[in-house]
Amino acid sequence: MLLSFSLIVAVASSFTVSISGQDVEEMMPEEDDQQLIKMYTPAFLIDIRSTDINYSMLSKAPFTYIVIDPDLISLTVDELSDLRAEGKIILAYMSIGEAEMGRTYWNDGDEEWMPGVKPRFLERVNPHARDRYRVRFWMPEWQTLLKKYYLANVIRRGFSGVFLAGMDAYEYFEQRERPSAGADMISLVATLRGTSQTLNGDFLQFSNNAVDLYGSERYSGLIDGMVAENIWFEDDIRRTEAQTNFTVQFLRQARADGKTVLAADFPLNQAKVCEFYVKCTTEVFRCAVFDSRLNGAGRSCQ
Ligand SMILES: *[C@@H]1O[C@H](CO)[C@@H](O)[C@H](O)[C@H]1NC(C)=O
Ligand SMILES: *[C@@H]1O[C@H](CO)[C@@H](O)[C@H](O)[C@H]1NC(C)=O
Repeated sequence: MLLSFSLIVAVASSFTVSISGQDVEEMMPEEDDQQLIKMYTPAFLIDIRSTDINYSMLSKAPFTYIVIDPDLISLTVDELSDLRAEGKIILAYMSIGEAEMGRTYWNDGDEEWMPGVKPRFLERVNPHARDRYRVRFWMPEWQTLLKKYYLANVIRRGFSGVFLAGMDAYEYFEQRERPSAGADMISLVATLRGTSQTLNGDFLQFSNNAVDLYGSERYSGLIDGMVAENIWFEDDIRRTEAQTNFTVQFLRQARADGKTVLAADFPLNQAKVCEFYVKCTTEVFRCAVFDSRLNGAGRSCQ
């Protein structure tokens, strides 16, 4: 294993040299083994489960890009402002394709929500998570709640931007009641962009998955970065080459357009963790392996 791994590293570094772009210098491997090892550790953090994340921890973290759940973490406006001054980019998790019980928008108004009945945007429960419900995200009532209770709040608290989760909800609805769901999702991203820009012109938007939306010309101007998951592996299962290629083509395009590309896979198997880092850094994406629940620190290739 060790031998074939060094071979892959050698191949990866010779590929990297031929790639042009501003990220190359900081990511290019050097002779020094320490440098090589450094490349195969997480290059960003997504932790939307831990409740004990605090200022000093984030300030010391060796990452620029950090995604956290704003409702789990009690960072003050001053702390977020300090983190931004230190060069950190702190993104707030915000699901736009699912409604989550316990968020401030839940049960807005005078009547209790009854999924499947009211409000009319609330569809069925996510079979994998009892506290999350699909939403007909194109409906203005939902978009108003998101903007009023969620987006405006994270902007006021001083987050650098939002991480737009749940975007792949468009695929679900496209196959059912809403053939235009892809275009609708792009419109929602545009609406959120419009709102955030009026409150803070520097506020960032990062998409999560649904990478094929990047094929739409309009979309590229609405996001600053992309977070893609399950690119080479789905947990420990290898994706087919066609699946990987399909995703990677959009990420390459985004990178070429100057977007930040954060790539996350979730293998447990060490050889696969290492293979992920080799392939991902060859693409000059920012790369990290996490627990599949996005809980805790990432995993390195060891
Ligand atoms: C922040 O979290 C770290 C790690 O959990 C802990 O060691 C530290 O004491 C915490 N700092 C404060 C100020 O709470
Ligand atoms: C995937 O892309 C690579 C080049 O990046 C190419 O060599 C390979 O043939 C492609 N495979 C499929 C199944 O499309």
